[in-house]
Amino acid sequence: MTAALEISGLSVLYGQAIEALDGVSITVPEGGFVALLGANGAGKSTTLKAISGLLRFENGRVARGTITYRGDDVAAMPSYQLARRGILHVREGRFVFPTMTVEENLEAALFARGSRGPALRRRDYDEVFHYFPALKARAKSQAGYLSGGEQQMLAIGRALFAQPELLMVDEASLGLAPKIAADIFSILHAINRDRRLSILVVEQNVTLALRHASHGYVLENGRVAADGPSQKLLDRDTLSRRYLGGGADVH
Ligand SMILES: Nc1ncnc2c1ncn2[C@@H]1O[C@H](COP(=O)(O)OP(=O)(O)O)[C@@H](O)[C@H]1O
Ligand SMILES: [Mg+2]
Repeated sequence: MTAALEISGLSVLYGQAIEALDGVSITVPEGGFVALLGANGAGKSTTLKAISGLLRFENGRVARGTITYRGDDVAAMPSYQLARRGILHVREGRFVFPTMTVEENLEAALFARGSRGPALRRRDYDEVFHYFPALKARAKSQAGYLSGGEQQMLAIGRALFAQPELLMVDEASLGLAPKIAADIFSILHAINRDRRLSILVVEQNVTLALRHASHGYVLENGRVAADGPSQKLLDRDTLSRRYLGGGADVH
């Protein structure tokens, strides 16, 4: 299988001294679904920020290593260009514009991919509402009034509206009821299958992520401590205790 994204020997520094990643190598196959796991502070979000060009806004930088997307070195590419190439990053924290409606939040994604004609736009809405019917019912509601699960759906839906080819989602399940978290992962799985886009999720809920991803990487203190096919990782019952600080939800 060809790689969509290939990270090799990636080291990231914040400021002059804080080394958040130390030699991380990760591959996301074209059309693949990969999970990045690990305890708090392991470097998961940093990895996504390095890929999507957001590090520079936090005084972070790639000190060593390469990030290759479909054969091109993208490590120095600004995030708006990465978005145009289809690399979309749903940041941790369900970031939505609270005073804008659901539809307006989706429209805002057009800044990421450039404007589209009305026919295409109608199709984009239909697609988002097909995967997230809960959002259709709330299309004219202000995003700030949505439930946590709906806001997460909107954050993902907005990325989908921008026509992603590599979709990265940071902590989709954080703070959500188990049923809602499971629904969101099932939807991500369906999107991955139907649209054949590549997905990289960051998760602390190991079993939920590995149920849907085909491959997982476990980060520990900025390094890859384990990786393998999801089933193999799930079979290792020591995984959560050893790498995930015991506090992680493994149900
Ligand atoms: N903006 C930042 N400035 C300085 N250090 C940071 C910043 N963001 C993260 N870090 C540090 O980098 C390490 C990895 O953080 P992060 O990637 O957020 O971990 P995770 O997402 O796995 O919880 C942690 O030690 C964290 O304190
Ligand atoms: Mg994080």
